Amino acid sequence: MSEVHILDHPLIQHKVTLIRDENTGSKEFRELVEEVAMLMAYEVTRDFPLQEVEVKTPVGLAKAKKISGRKVAIVPILRAGLGMVNGMLRLIPAAKVGHIGLYRDPETLQPVEYYCKLPTDVSERDLIVIDPMLATGGSASAAIQFLKDRGAKKIKLVCLIAAPEGIKKVQEDHADVDIYTAAVDERLNDHGYIVPGLGDAGDRLFGTK
Ligand code: PRP
Ligand code: URA
Repeated sequence: MSEVHILDHPLIQHKVTLIRDENTGSKEFRELVEEVAMLMAYEVTRDFPLQEVEVKTPVGLAKAKKISGRKVAIVPILRAGLGMVNGMLRLIPAAKVGHIGLYRDPETLQPVEYYCKLPTDVSERDLIVIDPMLATGGSASAAIQFLKDRGAKKIKLVCLIAAPEGIKKVQEDHADVDIYTAAVDERLNDHGYIVPGLGDAGDRLFGTK
């Protein structure tokens, strides 16, 4: 069974509260999502292995540490996942970025794929799938399956807010994928929105509606 990591750093929690607020406009919403994604990158990379290296400082030779040859790709689920890309890249600048376009059919709530462009070597990379909302889990599960079908072996899922239903779906479908989230909310409403959640992440990021 995969693990669910609740990222309870005070800065993450504080900023997610501001993101939830219905009075937060698109500009501030975008900035906050980017900042939270950057803070989450710090937590998600916590298990990256280090190797000992020697570095010559102006004063002498230091035995120090470097991340050992890790190849990372960040994979936003379009559209709302785009809001988290730059924050992640601030801390993992060498990462490649793959894109998976999925939207949720408003009637069936099933994910519909419309775009995919991935680095050619996904099978060799640590993949970090990002999407602010994990609601029914249909989109995240489909995106992860998509990556596995192309050879991906190491995948983590990062979201801002998750519903219990979404966590259950991803854990059932992908027991090898750990989930990182700032909050697990109460439930989904009849339209598949997370309650209390933050509303429609894509619309709030991009000012559409
Ligand atoms: C939202 C969100 C997730 C999905 C979550 O995207 O960004 O991708 O819904 O719902 P699920 O867990 O039930 O699949 P949406 O389909 O609204 O598309 P958008 O990002 O283009 O706005
Ligand atoms: N997608 C969103 O943007 N918000 C939700 O609450 C659920 C799915």
